[in-house]
Amino acid sequence: MNKIFITSSGTEIGKTFITTSLIKDLKKENYTVSALKPILTGFNEKEVSKSDSALLLEAMGLEVSIENISKITPWRYKEPLSPNIAAELENKPILFNELIDFSLSGTDEDLTLIEGIGGVMVPINNKITVIDWIKAIEIPIILVVGTYLGSLSHSLTAIKCLKSKNIKIIGIVVNESYSQPMSKEKTAKTISELTGSIPITTIPRIVDNKKMPNLIPLIKDYI
Ligand SMILES: Nc1ncnc2c1ncn2[C@@H]1O[C@H](COP(=O)(O)OP(=O)(O)O)[C@@H](O)[C@H]1O
Ligand SMILES: [Mg+2]
Repeated sequence: MNKIFITSSGTEIGKTFITTSLIKDLKKENYTVSALKPILTGFNEKEVSKSDSALLLEAMGLEVSIENISKITPWRYKEPLSPNIAAELENKPILFNELIDFSLSGTDEDLTLIEGIGGVMVPINNKITVIDWIKAIEIPIILVVGTYLGSLSHSLTAIKCLKSKNIKIIGIVVNESYSQPMSKEKTAKTISELTGSIPITTIPRIVDNKKMPNLIPLIKDYI
């Protein structure tokens, strides 16, 4: 039962996009795959189809229903804020042990992908951040970063934090940003020069009929 955690240097960088692409690539090659998005903020019960959880269910080929969403996303909050604050507003704190148990719960699939929330240091409650969550479950990660101006510092900060906790980084996905895009190749080269031997893949902005590159080579040793 293999698991990979998808995290990022921030929000809106492409975690869901990369996770759904991976699910589709894996299914095409006849792997069985499931995905979890344990914590979701900004969740509107009346507009579920746009939520990350709905996109993951769709990619898995499952019906987008509240029942299925609650199975992959037990912690759902209305306000589009960091989990600690959104949870406090609803008086529904995220208990670390419950989050760990859920993240480690077993499935029969070849691979389970877990999408984090926001960047690596987003607070989950008033004691822990995403990086503590990853460290506790000891699941290797893919780090998704952007190519917007400022991304290099965000990316290098995230990598330094992950390395300081000895978290296994399977690979880095440099995902071309919508605004202020810099060259994804130069972004990847700079990150590589400053961080060493982590495999890096670049993904263009997928517009019109541009083909999404297959992401399986990045994770082939983990399935
Ligand atoms: N490579 C890409 N090409 C086209 N659109 C993308 C790409 N990466 C992300 N997006 C879009 O950018 C937005 C933010 O990406 P998303 O995956 O939701 O970020 P995150 O999960 O990190 O918050 C979404 O609308 C998504 O479809
Ligand atoms: Mg997302």
